[in-house]
Amino acid sequence: MKTYKIAVIPGDGTGPEVVAEGLKVLQAVSQKRQFKYETVHFDFGGKRYLRTKEVLPDSAIPELKKFDAMFLGAIGHPDVKPGILEKGILLRLRFDLDQYINLRPIQLFDERFCPLKNKKPEDIDFVVVRENSEGLYKGMGEFQDKGTAGEVAIQISYNTRKGVERCLRYAFEYTKKYGKKKQLTLCGKTNVLTFAWDLWERTFHELAKEYPDVKTSYTHVDATTMWFVKNPEWFDVIVTDNMFGDIITDLGAMLQGGMGIAAGGNINPQGVSMFEPIGGSAPKYTGQKVINPLAAICAMGMLLRQIGETAAAESIEDSVKTVVKTKLKDLAAGKMGYSTTEVGDLVVKNL
Ligand code: IPM
Ligand code: MG
Repeated sequence: MKTYKIAVIPGDGTGPEVVAEGLKVLQAVSQKRQFKYETVHFDFGGKRYLRTKEVLPDSAIPELKKFDAMFLGAIGHPDVKPGILEKGILLRLRFDLDQYINLRPIQLFDERFCPLKNKKPEDIDFVVVRENSEGLYKGMGEFQDKGTAGEVAIQISYNTRKGVERCLRYAFEYTKKYGKKKQLTLCGKTNVLTFAWDLWERTFHELAKEYPDVKTSYTHVDATTMWFVKNPEWFDVIVTDNMFGDIITDLGAMLQGGMGIAAGGNINPQGVSMFEPIGGSAPKYTGQKVINPLAAICAMGMLLRQIGETAAAESIEDSVKTVVKTKLKDLAAGKMGYSTTEVGDLVVKNL
């Protein structure tokens, strides 16, 4: 029997608290479903940076490549200037491990927690496939005449045929395999960003020919945010670039009940993938045991699905659904009616 190797990066703020619950659920589900794993903890994050002045040691990337999967809590520290840890840890891991897909399921488990009127769990159930290695996140650009009245700041969206195609192909394959309606929507901005979205659209139509069973559609990103609120039931799988994906998935997270439940996977289909709750490190809730661990627990479910432990993943998903529906008063921090650890215990009990 294989022993999975899982790298754990609890990170900053409430990260360690929610990671502990994810690991608690992993421990329980591994016994139920009879698989073996071992974990190795890494202390990357704000505290380590403040102590050592090093964001990520050079040894980290080759070391992490030896794992079957990674589980991340949160990165971000109030005493560190915004951007340093995000770029130096989170984005660096995504880029250097070539986790070129950011997969973000948007699923409402209980209509009590949806901010939209009259929307039910069957209306909010879609997935965003966000490109995770290029676009504006590539960090290309420059200042010209910085600090002068004539200053220019240029920020480039970098899109390669290879990068666009591999993301679209993943989205087509995902839709074919898991899409409830077998419908893939490209979310872009072809009417204004005529270089980037020309490439995306052309490649999308070319690939569509290889997937006759997948229905395709296109929406501009601004209209997408409108449909998210007006008719979220229209969507099945959405594919988009890095920046648009970042923006629309925060809106998506709110539709499913907030950051307390929103999970995502940074996926390298040929390498090591990293799973995380998509909310931040929530410094003001740190140490209070009030943060909702369900996003991290759902991320653990995604991790298990990725490494092939499908039954374990499903039992976590079912348990989370039950706990949300039958126990929690609210999904927001401090309002759940239970502490962080109690919510983890409830998930374990309902596995
Ligand atoms: C996310 C976050 C990150 C991003 C930040 C923290 C760099 O917002 O995972 O969506 O922009 O990708
Ligand atoms: Mg974001």
